[in-house]
Amino acid sequence: MTSLQQSANTRLRWFIGSLAIASFLGYWQVNTRVLQQTGPEPCKEAIIHPAAAGVRTVEHDDAIAAHLPEWLQEYGTWHQEAISQLNATNWRSQRFLVMTAIRGRRTGGLTDRLKPLPFFLKLAATTNRILLIYWSKPFTLEQYLLPPEGGFDWRVPRYMVDAIATAKLETRPEGVRRLANDTGSGTMLLATQMQAHDYGEGWYDDNPLDGDNTGSRKDVFRHMWHWTFTPTPPIAQRIQEEFDYMGVTPGNYAAAHIRAVYAVKERSDDTIVRMTKHAMDCVSMLRPGGPFFVASDTDKAITVAKAYGRIKNVTVVASSNHNHNNRKDPLHLDMYNTTDPSIMPEDFYDAFVDLYLLGSTRCIAHGQGSFGHWGYLLGYDPSCEIRHFKGPQCAWTDGPTATAQEQQMRVFGVASKEPPSRPLFRQPMSYDSIYAYRH
Ligand SMILES: *[C@@H]1O[C@H](CO)[C@@H](O)[C@H](O)[C@H]1NC(C)=O
Ligand SMILES: *[C@@H]1O[C@H](CO)[C@@H](O)[C@H](O)[C@H]1NC(C)=O
Ligand SMILES: *[C@@H]1O[C@H](CO)[C@@H](O)[C@H](O)[C@H]1NC(C)=O
Ligand SMILES: *[C@@H]1O[C@H](CO)[C@@H](O)[C@H](O)[C@H]1NC(C)=O
Repeated sequence: MTSLQQSANTRLRWFIGSLAIASFLGYWQVNTRVLQQTGPEPCKEAIIHPAAAGVRTVEHDDAIAAHLPEWLQEYGTWHQEAISQLNATNWRSQRFLVMTAIRGRRTGGLTDRLKPLPFFLKLAATTNRILLIYWSKPFTLEQYLLPPEGGFDWRVPRYMVDAIATAKLETRPEGVRRLANDTGSGTMLLATQMQAHDYGEGWYDDNPLDGDNTGSRKDVFRHMWHWTFTPTPPIAQRIQEEFDYMGVTPGNYAAAHIRAVYAVKERSDDTIVRMTKHAMDCVSMLRPGGPFFVASDTDKAITVAKAYGRIKNVTVVASSNHNHNNRKDPLHLDMYNTTDPSIMPEDFYDAFVDLYLLGSTRCIAHGQGSFGHWGYLLGYDPSCEIRHFKGPQCAWTDGPTATAQEQQMRVFGVASKEPPSRPLFRQPMSYDSIYAYRH
């Protein structure tokens, strides 16, 4: 490139930059006025990237470990070295901590199983144990998630399966902590299916380590997750199809999660309408103008949210499995008929797709249950959340005016359905026949 072209390029970039700043200031003024009228402050990210387009990737930092705490980067290096040395005869000389979900034994749902990930990583690192994950119920975890290339390899070698499946199972958080610290031969292989109301967050945050330079659990959860998991190809494809269907891109929407029939048999239509509108009012305060993604356990809430969006002139989308009535409820990982041979791995895909759709949000208004809260931990901005159920009184907050928004579009471009320029997810690690799952 000649220096003339370079300087033309520099000028062009400078010019585009000034446009962006001018437009940003215009947007800021509009938005500040809205704020002064309605009080609550939306998240900063929402102001900086109003309906910005082009970000297609869930996690595309080139250095996947760069956002992890130092102690975890060190543990990752140690772990990789340790598992590379394992073989069928020497593995018993190592100490392990295994997160399990085994047929015929106690297991929890998806949240119970994987939300304590930061707890287990820290516990394994502080007790010098090799952390692995092994599921046989409903099927192997590798049907749904795999370690990403360059990430954390938690897969179990075939020769360890019998020992894991018959190991004593510890489920109490204090028991898991105590036994993990034990160096006796009886606890060499510690299998756990821990049931903790806070998923280990309290212990994680109360026990900072040297090199805990990246903050509390909520600040690192997203990075730990994407270092540990990437969806398998069929699930990644479904997630991509959902984004295309909804016309939103990861990180460029705010989510409302509405559990209308949680811990109750049913709620009246009136109550669901009121609950849904309130949830939408709350999410509008986080990211005025949307777009909004709504997820719920009842179709009624989806219909109400979409109608409310039309009245308010904002985009409200839901995933395609909410588009037909008589939709089969997604199967629960723990509560299904385990002797029914017609149940297939793909019958559980929806739970993972839903998790990634919620977990790719910029902001979230969540209600009851820990699933919506999990979406907030996985999302792009863990400070951009509000609890709409038994939370604050929310008031609908309009986005920027049409002209300001049009101006934004001119500068940042519009969301398009062009194929992504970068892949949505990281490539999974390659398969080797030593692993306990088949390809
Ligand atoms: C397993 O690894 C040890 C070294 O740790 C080595 O001596 C042994 O030969 C290996 N066994 C097999 C079956 O590869
Ligand atoms: C393990 O034991 C040591 C020494 O008693 C203690 O300092 C440490 O906090 C324990 N770790 C855990 C995870 O309980
Ligand atoms: C909704 O948007 C349209 C087109 O921009 C506009 O004509 C209409 O007045 C808006 N309605 C409300 C209620 O803001
Ligand atoms: C579970 O599936 C088996 C096999 O299809 C069937 O015989 C049994 O009745 C089912 N149990 C329940 C509770 O649905």
